[in-house]
Amino acid sequence: MTGTHPAPAAVVTGLGRCLPETVVTNDDLSRHLDTDHAWILSRTGIERRRRVAPGTGTGDLAVAAGAAALKSAGREDCDLVLLATTTPDLRCPATAPTVASRLGLGAAAFDLSAVCSGFVYGLTAAAAMITAGTCERALVIGADVYSSIVDPADRGTAVVFGDGAGAVVLERGRRDAPGALLHAELGSDGTGADLITIPADGTHLTMRGREVYTRAVTTMTESARSVARGAGWSTDDIDAFVGHQANLRILASVAKRLGLPPERVVSNIAEVGNTAAASIPLALADAAAAGRIRAGDRVLLTAFGGGLTWGSTALVWPDTEAVCDVRR
Ligand code: UT7
Repeated sequence: MTGTHPAPAAVVTGLGRCLPETVVTNDDLSRHLDTDHAWILSRTGIERRRRVAPGTGTGDLAVAAGAAALKSAGREDCDLVLLATTTPDLRCPATAPTVASRLGLGAAAFDLSAVCSGFVYGLTAAAAMITAGTCERALVIGADVYSSIVDPADRGTAVVFGDGAGAVVLERGRRDAPGALLHAELGSDGTGADLITIPADGTHLTMRGREVYTRAVTTMTESARSVARGAGWSTDDIDAFVGHQANLRILASVAKRLGLPPERVVSNIAEVGNTAAASIPLALADAAAAGRIRAGDRVLLTAFGGGLTWGSTALVWPDTEAVCDVRR
């Protein structure tokens, strides 16, 4: 029998974030780097970013963001912790089990590496596990400490990246519930692997920014359009477009191609820079906290990053209050 019970879905019920306290402005960077505020602002839209204090790592930010998301959902437990990150605390083991233990959770836990697309990949994987019945409730965290892998002398990356973490709680629910993930698509193209990389014999991230930029605009536009269609929306139905916060000009170009007016584009890049896997949940948390996205809004998430990887997710925003947290 079909029709009496709607298909199960994964539903967003909580949202949290964590930003380190230390603020690094464009002027701070200009003191030891051949760059200046005007260049950084006009080329990226970034005014400042956050940086962890020595001794603070991805796991610390992930625990704080995860705790905030659970609090926002009014929950104390979950049976899956999925951490999207490129900067795990250790090469082995994964950071997620430690995060789960520190949160007092006896949950399945694993890291997911899809660079700046990691959070959207993580949401999609966790949603599939929920709808398959593998787990009931998942904490999906995007956390990165790029200050640990960026070369402070490389002006092409040092001005761009910041540290942070964002998290959502996903629960098994109904497809017609606010917060249900309606449609998602993921993609990759490994022929672009060398565009964003840490070589095996290196310690620092390298990025061929201009080439990534061009690929990001076309791929994000196609992905967003395709997922809107899959959700049964026209692009005009999108109330809030939450793209990976890599560059304000990329977001503006994608929005223009989608025919979206600037007021439907969510961006917090001016304040936090590119926070990699944390970028989309941080943008969501900031927008929700500011009332910029409200219950019932049709929200489209689109990510793009190293791999190359990309993905989009469509959902109707739930009545969820973002819980914010800041740590040193
Ligand atoms: O998060 C994963 C996905 N990542 C992205 O999507 C990043 C996409 N790429 C970008 O956002 C941009 O390519 C950057 C912000 C990284 C660079 O901006 P751009 O407008 O593409 O600059 P460019 O690399 O083409 O460089 C243009 C000029 C060069 O000088 P010349 O050769 O024209 O004399 C650079 O040396 O700007 C110079 N430049 C800088 N000047 C001042 C590069 N970085 C800087 C800087 N300050 N920080």
